[in-house]
Amino acid sequence: MKKIMAANWKMFKTHAQGIETATALVDILRNKLPEDREVLVIPPFTLLHGVHNVLQGEPGFFLGAENFYPADQGAFTGEICPEQLRDLGCTYALAGHSERRHIMGEDDAFVGLKVRFGLKQGLRMILCIGEKIAERKAGNVENVLFRQLQKGLEGIDPGVDPETLVVAYEPVWAIGTGEVAGLEEILAVHALVRNKLVQMFPDSGKSIPILYGGSVKPDNCTSIISLDNVDGVLVGGASLAAESFSQIVLA
Ligand code: 13P
Repeated sequence: MKKIMAANWKMFKTHAQGIETATALVDILRNKLPEDREVLVIPPFTLLHGVHNVLQGEPGFFLGAENFYPADQGAFTGEICPEQLRDLGCTYALAGHSERRHIMGEDDAFVGLKVRFGLKQGLRMILCIGEKIAERKAGNVENVLFRQLQKGLEGIDPGVDPETLVVAYEPVWAIGTGEVAGLEEILAVHALVRNKLVQMFPDSGKSIPILYGGSVKPDNCTSIISLDNVDGVLVGGASLAAESFSQIVLA
């Protein structure tokens, strides 16, 4: 399985800044990207077209969207649908990112609807899951993650193609805080997630990539990416500069 090295730019960068970063990233990584790695750039909507133009034709580079609304088209002012994303070259999309769950109020049922709809519309879906610090302190990590997986993947064919689905474990307390989860914690949670995926998808569960996200930096990426069941990383802050993100990609 290829390791997915994903950059979530969140609500950062003007158009010019985004093009500059994507161009620099491609320039640094061209002909250096190992066979077993792929790079996924997930910029804000305003940058999809421009970044697509930069990544187009570059082997191993993919484009993803941070969000969409689960409908074909229609009167949904301010929203973007999967067809519009695919039209701009997106192959991946996120659902259930903690910022959408906890700032925008998206619940498990809505996240599940997005995952089902995105898959049906031909997007590779990245379901993000993760516990808050209070849930960890209360010993509820397993309950929270299993609920998010169960609801987020509800209604998906047990024979799902593992190429179309990704899970990203991002502990909420590690996002943007500089406080990366310990290696033992990541190892334990990824094993739990793997077991749950195998239980839910007996044929493909072992091949569904599980990414880690939360304060991944150039100096901690090598040890994280080497852990069992860590099939890539989802990077926020350290993905905003081509220099630091390329170090992570090559870690
Ligand atoms: P940071 O890498 O800034 O902690 O963000 C992680 C994240 O939310 C990626 O989706």
